[in-house]
Amino acid sequence: MSKTIIISNRLPLQISLEDSNLEVTPSVGGLATGLKSFHKDGDSIWIGWSGLTEEEIPENLLDDVKEKARKEDCVAVNLSEEEIDGFYYGFSNRTIWPLFHYFMEYTEADKDHWETYKSVNRKYADEVLKHYEDGDHIWVHDYQLLLVPNMIREKQPEAIIGFFNHIPFPSYEVFRTLPWRDEVLEGVLGADLIGFHTYDYERHFLSSVSRILRHQVNFNEITLPERIVKVDSFPMGIDYNKFEAAAQNHFKNTEEQRTELQRRLDHHSNETPEAKLILSIDRLDYTKGIANRIRAFEYFLDNHPEFIEKVRLVMLAVPSRSNVPQYQRLKREIDELVGRINGKFSTVSWTPIWYFYRSMPFENLIDLYTSCDIALLTPIRDGMNLVAKEFVATRINQTGVLILSEMAGAAHEMNEALIINPNNFEQISQTLIQAIEMPIEEQQQRNKTLQKRLKRYSVEKWANDFMKALHNTSQDRDAFKA
Ligand code: ADP
Ligand code: G6P
Repeated sequence: MSKTIIISNRLPLQISLEDSNLEVTPSVGGLATGLKSFHKDGDSIWIGWSGLTEEEIPENLLDDVKEKARKEDCVAVNLSEEEIDGFYYGFSNRTIWPLFHYFMEYTEADKDHWETYKSVNRKYADEVLKHYEDGDHIWVHDYQLLLVPNMIREKQPEAIIGFFNHIPFPSYEVFRTLPWRDEVLEGVLGADLIGFHTYDYERHFLSSVSRILRHQVNFNEITLPERIVKVDSFPMGIDYNKFEAAAQNHFKNTEEQRTELQRRLDHHSNETPEAKLILSIDRLDYTKGIANRIRAFEYFLDNHPEFIEKVRLVMLAVPSRSNVPQYQRLKREIDELVGRINGKFSTVSWTPIWYFYRSMPFENLIDLYTSCDIALLTPIRDGMNLVAKEFVATRINQTGVLILSEMAGAAHEMNEALIINPNNFEQISQTLIQAIEMPIEEQQQRNKTLQKRLKRYSVEKWANDFMKALHNTSQDRDAFKA
């Protein structure tokens, strides 16, 4: 029977070493959290990196790492420290990530990183080929593996290959600055079907293909000499039922079952029942606009002192890519901003910002989603932003207001949210007031519509739509040959 081979840089489980023992934790990030439910339900294997470098895994634990992955139908790809440096911290996160998010001033063009990126992409492709059998569907994910589709195609010309890009695809004017732009496009074009979150990313990609490689593009089809490649948009959803059920269970918790965080949050709302909690959750990443968000919050308090002691910003930033200098600088900047603003506005009974820099278990995420009144998500650029969708899904009585940046892919599907430009502090400040004062009926009306849509376009539907389209594309290919 044919299977699906999922391949992404990171596995949905992360293995780490704690006192010489292997610990398994779930991966953070939209790709892993979203795709996990598709993988769990289907007949698939998932190939990716375990989170430990070759040097970090003691000889006697090598088999255990494999076994931990195997238990979850995963195959761990071994990467050395040097490979992680050049491929992951290097080309993926110092070249492609900033470039594709329009941070050109952060984009490096290092030839050694590029060479390592190529050799590691080859390693992933070879791992896929080891597991590939005729009839399998191969689904390659994200910007770390742009060359993998063609590397597989060279060895298995008949393979059915899909590629999904989880981050934005930039406009041609930005993409064209990449020294290895031809190779990158040719790599992706090894796929039969290429998916993006939004139509804008799709058309930017098509425009780069037609202007850089001069391939013929008709509507959403690219004609290569030997094949046709289809390109389409598939906005990724969430596992709606999981979040809804978690929120329902959360409210059934007895006093003893409540987490420490929940007790703190409850304490806050008992002490100041009219005060609003404003939530933000992101990986600590410059694309998420965290520093700007804090500045906008300062602007709001400066200009509307009547809200002092009436609001609190609860910010969860999850550590991410901390070997990359920009992330280290951002961490310092946020620490300073939070310290300065708390110092400036705090009163004896009130601190304006609660800041957590750590990963949290799922139940704490649910505590935060369900206890806050407003979600303030202000990315400068974001492929999708699943946090916005998760917040709405957990509002089981339909109250709560989502403020969302227009630069997030999710904004295209979430018109009922309050949409803002993350660089416009005055607008953010006015929108915060609108959210704080929004009547319950209006909140419920907006959330009801959003929830209905999110429920319908769940992650399951996203994955099934993509796989169905991939299957059809492969049938069209056979017809094209005939
Ligand atoms: P990105 O993919 O850029 O990180 P998204 O908002 O699309 O941004 O996805 C983030 C995902 O990571 C969400 O599914 C969210 O639930 C999950 N997540 C965020 N913070 C944590 C955390 N502290 N612990 C576990 N998962 C988290
Ligand atoms: C985004 C990317 C994913 C990545 C995730 C977490 O969602 O699209 O590919 O896995 O961020 O980043 P990390 O570098 O920790 O894998």
